[in-house]
Parts: sequence; C-alpha cells; structure tokens
Amino acid sequence: MNDDTEPPLPDRLRQLLSARRFEHITVFSGAGMSADSGIPTFRSGDNGLWHTHKPEHMATPEAWKRDKELVWAWYEYRRHFVMAAQPHPGHCAAARLQQALGAAIVTQNVDDLHERAGATDVLHLHGSLFTPLCAACHRPPAEPLPPPPLEVQQQQQQRLMPPTCQHCGGYIRPGVVWFGENLDEAIVNQAIECIRRSDLLLVVGTSGLVHPAASLVSVAKRNATIIEINPEPGGASGRMDFQWRVTAAVGVARIAQMLNRPLKKCSSNAPGS
Ligand code: APR
Repeated sequence: MNDDTEPPLPDRLRQLLSARRFEHITVFSGAGMSADSGIPTFRSGDNGLWHTHKPEHMATPEAWKRDKELVWAWYEYRRHFVMAAQPHPGHCAAARLQQALGAAIVTQNVDDLHERAGATDVLHLHGSLFTPLCAACHRPPAEPLPPPPLEVQQQQQQRLMPPTCQHCGGYIRPGVVWFGENLDEAIVNQAIECIRRSDLLLVVGTSGLVHPAASLVSVAKRNATIIEINPEPGGASGRMDFQWRVTAAVGVARIAQMLNRPLKKCSSNAPGS
C-alpha cells in the first residue's frame, strides 16, 4: 500500500507510534473522514453542507415542524448520495484496526461508510441516515425504505412527503440527531467508556465545533497518545500529541500500517485499498 505518492510518516509521529504497544485504540471521526469518498463536510470546502443550506432550515425539530417535505427530500437526497459513495482506504484501515487490534470506532457521521468497509458496532453519536424512525411513536418503519425518487436523487425535486408509519400513522423522520435534540445517552456513555480506556486516540476529520461530541476528546486519559488527522488547522480542540496535516484516506491507512499489522485487502472495492 505504501507508494511514493504518500507522505512519509513524520519522525515525531513514528516515535509516538513506536513508543509502545497500544492495547486500546479508538478512532473518533467526523465529516472529514468521509470527504475522500466524495461526501461533503459541513463546514469545510466550498460545498460544505452548511455553506449551501441553513442548519436551522434543515436540521432542527422546528424545521421539521415547519416544512417536513423540504427536510425529508434533503435527507433522502443525502441518503442516496451516500449509497452511491464508496469507503476509502482510511475507512478500510479503521475496520482492520478494529478486526486486528479490537479498536473502537466512534463517529459523528450519519453515513454507513465505516460499516461498509467492514467495521461493526460503530458508535454513531449523531444517528444515521439508514435508521429512520417514526416521529410520533419512534418505531422504525415496518418495511425498509425504497430508494428515493430519481428527481430527488438528481436534486430536481426539493420537496418530498415523508412516508407514514404503519404502526401509528405518524410521519417517518430521518434517524439523525438534530440541533437542539439530545444524543442517545447509552451511545454517549459507551463512547466515553471507549475514549477513557484508550491509550491511542485517532481524531479524524472533525472541526471540533459541535458539542457534546467535540468534548469527548478531553475525556482521554492523561497518558493516552492523541493524534489528529486533518489537512486543515483549527480542527479538534484539546490536547493533541501530534497533528498530521493529511487526509483521512492517507493518514488512517498509514498509521494502521505503522502499527505493524499487515493490512489484508478489505472487501470494499475502494480504489487502491
Ligand atoms: N480528511 C480529513 N479531514 C478533512 C478532510 C479530509 N479529506 N477534508 C476536510 N477535513 C476536515 C476539515 O478541515 C474540518 O476540520 O474535516 C473537518 C470537517 O468539519 P465539519 O464539517 O465541521 O464536520 P464535523 O466536525 O464532523 O461536524 C460536527 O456538526 O453539523 C453537525 O451533526 C453534524 O456531525 C456533524 C457535526
């Protein structure tokens, strides 16, 4: 996997990674983790979702009450966009770290690229585009949702009536955590447990602007090694032992390789994996 196009591992990072054998590793990811798969982030790059849409119009309970057709169409478009995307070598490396070293994966992302790369038990702090539920009775739909209509996939149609719940007749809403909503306490507690136990924490592709997720990094124990992977400065806050200015696809794969576990080919047909 190591070719000349990839940046060499900085000496300081190599020192940190070879300083000890890590028993508990956690990969904590944000939208930047999926950027190399073509999924827009929220705040970086020109196509950041919050540059093209207002969170208060799309990602709050009030927005849903005000105009559920607009909100539903947007999330169905995003679901389609993710279904058409592929995991990249970084996702594969994270899945392999989990299989080879029992690494935990905690993500703010609502896509399923970690899972499609082979990871299991991924802790989704902000929910998922693939776990819709009834806004009234909170039960999942009786049948899996069909793919969104073509017009929505091609963003020609901006409004789509959400399906109704076969259990109670309520409207099915996206299974994501909106601004102003509480995160699932059980998932947060599991994430805290993972990060608190970690001796190596990889913080990948997050701006560290949205709490409480962003504050999870700070529960890492004092002697844990914390490495940030983010091509841009101004990412996650808190103590970082090393900030590597590379993309997730390169950084996670290189670090996993460095942890000296041969990376077997992963199942996804991601380019170069
Ligand atoms: N590889 C790694 N990091 C990247 C890449 C890349 N290829 N491209 C961009 N980044 C970094 C950016 O520099 C930025 O710091 O990813 C980060 C993305 O930040 P945000 O868009 O703010 O995403 P995130 O931190 O996940 O947002 C947190 O905000 O809108 C809510 O619920 C939403 O989960 C989301 C939360």
